[in-house]
Amino acid sequence: MCGIVAYIGRREASPILLEGLKRMEYRGYDSAGMAVLDGDLRVGRAVGRVAALEEVLEREGGFEGTLGIAHTRWATHGGVTEANAHPHRDDGRLGHGIAVIHNGIIENHATLKRYLVEKGHVFTSETDTEVLAHLIGELYRGDLEKAVQSALREVTGAYAIAVVCEKEPDVLVAARKGSPLMIGVGKDEYIVASDSSAIVAHTTQAITLDDYTVARLDRESFRTTNVDNDPVSAEIRELEYDLGQIDLGSYEHYMLKEIHEQPEALRLCMKGRVDLRSGQIVLGGINQFARDLARAKRVIFIGQGTALHAGMVAEYLMEDLAKIPTDVEFASEFRYRNPIVEEGTVVVAISQSGETADTLAALQEAKQRGAMAIGLVNVVGSSISRETDAGVYLRVGPEIGVASTKAFLGQVCVATMLAAFTGRRRFLAAEAVRDLMERMSEVPGHIERILEQSDAIRDATARYVERDNWLFLGRGYNYPVALEGALKLKEISYIHAEGMPAAEMKHGPIALIDEGMPVVFLATRNSQYDKVLSNIEEVRSRGGHVIAVATEGDEEIRDRVHEVFWVPDVPEPLQPLLTVVPLQLLAYHAALMRGRDVDKPRNLAKSVTVE
Ligand code: F6R
Repeated sequence: MCGIVAYIGRREASPILLEGLKRMEYRGYDSAGMAVLDGDLRVGRAVGRVAALEEVLEREGGFEGTLGIAHTRWATHGGVTEANAHPHRDDGRLGHGIAVIHNGIIENHATLKRYLVEKGHVFTSETDTEVLAHLIGELYRGDLEKAVQSALREVTGAYAIAVVCEKEPDVLVAARKGSPLMIGVGKDEYIVASDSSAIVAHTTQAITLDDYTVARLDRESFRTTNVDNDPVSAEIRELEYDLGQIDLGSYEHYMLKEIHEQPEALRLCMKGRVDLRSGQIVLGGINQFARDLARAKRVIFIGQGTALHAGMVAEYLMEDLAKIPTDVEFASEFRYRNPIVEEGTVVVAISQSGETADTLAALQEAKQRGAMAIGLVNVVGSSISRETDAGVYLRVGPEIGVASTKAFLGQVCVATMLAAFTGRRRFLAAEAVRDLMERMSEVPGHIERILEQSDAIRDATARYVERDNWLFLGRGYNYPVALEGALKLKEISYIHAEGMPAAEMKHGPIALIDEGMPVVFLATRNSQYDKVLSNIEEVRSRGGHVIAVATEGDEEIRDRVHEVFWVPDVPEPLQPLLTVVPLQLLAYHAALMRGRDVDKPRNLAKSVTVE
């Protein structure tokens, strides 16, 4: 959700900033901009992708200078226009030459703007960020760090910012509250960025800023304070991933790369955690809390989007394997409906990025009400991971494609281990855990087999891709997968799709079914198989075309449906790990056939850091 990157050092800033923007473009891609200080402040902005900004810079003969800031935007306040693109400047009348890039939302921007307008400030954009730039300018008394601290004392909302000032050509100021921000520490240089993908090409040493921290950087040193100018500590740590992991390699899209990485991602996710010989599950991050978890009276999974769907699978797993009453909720709804959190409630936040604003806020709310907080998060050191009492990292590697794929598998895999780990400490027999884990260790190999069907899935998809309305139906463990399949299709191909429990169809949605409507059924062999077969008949008799995901060797289903994608046979709790994969491929191929930008679908951005 908006990528920000800033550089201060001895090298030319603009190539470093452009490369950083390209790496973070998945965070937002409505418009982009850059400001570089070389005596004067030079600012370039463009609507569209980073490539459009590159053209602007070229037209202007390039920006020279060793201090600069840059931004790729996902619009929140104000339309997608050049005037609304970042960087934003303070009021030119004051002559400070201040420029700001910002990720987040300044909630009291209207009040601040009224105050500034009364003082004579003239605004040129509709953004909340310009208000912040003007406020910093208004409070500037020759010290940028102090002006930023003073401004932030007046601000409510969320921000990750980087600020430069013409009058202080050796200073970069950055600050964070509620939006991620890191500082890469190189030799005589610093790179500030919303995530490590913009940093790892230059250094693997980085500081993750805490909320309410202001960092003042010059070329040789930095200091960190709070907004009241009290010193705060900042720890430099080693970044865990390298460039190879975030490069496309031979793949055309990150989404395809990440779909294909799933077998390896799951192996890494299980590595060192599942001991097949003893049948033990070792989850270092929650060991200390294992007893509390086993005694929990209620577990609540929270998340948004794909992470929520993983939470829905987790709900089934936790009740099945650990026999603990479990709920799953949209984090955004949980936090605002005065939730009841009794003693013995464990809240588990699921998030790839660890930065989703609603999930983070819901977790904080639950903690405040006395819940134990666990995180199932991919990004190490992210806000959610730092907010929890305990957690299990997904360890599936960086996910760049906006449509989440391997993170979903990681979330479900970790949830399976968590449920079995908890169940073992309650009623679940050691044998049962060992059997399940043994079968789960075979899942990566099974996924490899499913991926081999990619061409067949593409050909089948081609027969329906012109249809504008699709249904995805499943029962039990496959119900969340139906939701996930529909979400994947709509978010990257813009085809309207709905997912629901197969039985629910008869309570209204069946009216939608007409001749040739594609209806995707998750129809694997499990406890609800016969019921699903009946639902398939109901759809067929109304003219719907059935695309089934079925268990290998199921000859019975072959004649009952129009298309079938095969998955190997695994126990019911493990089926989502397989049944989702053909649906990811279906969505991918449909999006390509419709000419969509698979990795950067319209209106979306990875990591929703605003509520
Ligand atoms: C869909 C997708 C989103 C995310 C959701 C939560 O493909 O990626 O629905 O799952 O925005 O994001 P995280 O997991 O980062 O909290």
